Amino acid sequence: MYDVMSIRNDFPMLKNHPDMIFFDSGATSLKPQCVIDAVTRFYTEDTANIHRGDYDISFKVSKEYDETREVLRKFLNARKAEEIVFTNGATSSLNTVAYGYGLKYLKEGDVILTSYAEHASSILPWYTVKEKTACDIIFTPLTDDGHFDLDAYKECLNKHNVKLVALPMVSNVLGYKYPVKEITRLAHEKGAVVSIDGAQGVPHCLTDVQDLDCDFLSFSSHKMLGPGGVGVLYGKEELLTQINTLTMGGGANARFDKDFNVILKNAPIRFEAGTPSIEGVLGLKAAVEYLMNIGMKNVEAHDKEMAEYLSSELAKLDNVVIYNPETECSIVSFNVKGVFAQDSGTYLNKNNICVRTGNHCAKLLHNVIDEDQTIRASLYIYNTKEEIDRFVKVVSEITLEKCIGAII
Ligand code: ALA
Repeated sequence: MYDVMSIRNDFPMLKNHPDMIFFDSGATSLKPQCVIDAVTRFYTEDTANIHRGDYDISFKVSKEYDETREVLRKFLNARKAEEIVFTNGATSSLNTVAYGYGLKYLKEGDVILTSYAEHASSILPWYTVKEKTACDIIFTPLTDDGHFDLDAYKECLNKHNVKLVALPMVSNVLGYKYPVKEITRLAHEKGAVVSIDGAQGVPHCLTDVQDLDCDFLSFSSHKMLGPGGVGVLYGKEELLTQINTLTMGGGANARFDKDFNVILKNAPIRFEAGTPSIEGVLGLKAAVEYLMNIGMKNVEAHDKEMAEYLSSELAKLDNVVIYNPETECSIVSFNVKGVFAQDSGTYLNKNNICVRTGNHCAKLLHNVIDEDQTIRASLYIYNTKEEIDRFVKVVSEITLEKCIGAII
């Protein structure tokens, strides 16, 4: 049985802020004690660099770092641990795909297929690839209410010379799930490579990369209970051996000589030049083990239930407009009628409620939902119906006058 109160007990932030409602996990999640302990242990008991020290503490930390790849392999059901690259975050993973694959293989006449729902980190690296290679970027149309439109996508694949598909697993504003398996199957039929931004999907959904068959999947540790400064790039082995690395340096090379020859190590080490965030990776290991212990199916069911409950309760209010009434995954985006999103955010803050307001880095989405600024409530494993009830009550009281009162 899903025991949300026992889960809440694991999060010091919730104890230190007993009156706070934290509905901003889409921006970053809270951290359980086991993650904090893993990071602290590195600083207090196990400080050493990895793969470079000939002493016990370094051996111990190197082993734990390497084991994290296997934990991630299991978590994603990847074929091999070598398909897991540690990066600085989802943004750096997505940049690695764009520059490592795009700059090497895309050329004039090729098309990157993406959508208006993209987060900046999922689309801006491809803008650079377009500029440098003269390839084109096409946006697959979404439905009027922001859902992925499979028919429109098929038409784009048929009409254009698509070589690369870049789409999210879950929209970071609308919480709609993308049919990644079908997207990938259709793209592969046309010979296109598929890069998925999993930043808002992997923390909330059971993810099986062999089943999805996507070529690349990028996500961050800090949105899934882990430390900041660490991310994951999953890539199929045959692609990771082909694409360029963005960073050259220590650890990633096997040898180099005075004639400028460089031999890189095999993936994934070739992508991890320099000392990584060792404590971050160890913390990520603790976070993933914690999530696996709850079970990702349970996480998915809880987050969906909470988001649906929040959406249905907000829908009862006359002063609210919801942009994603069919939310599928942890996110509800809405506004209070006649009130600027940031002003509502200020009022919510006065009531100890944490949300994100604005365009949420998805700066093309207004082309679809006709609204640039929204309040985004994003939920996670520790949120409860009681918090939602309190939240909805505060939202029901929001008026322009009260918001001005909260600002001045
Ligand atoms: N990418 C994060 C978000 O969607 C910060 O809020």
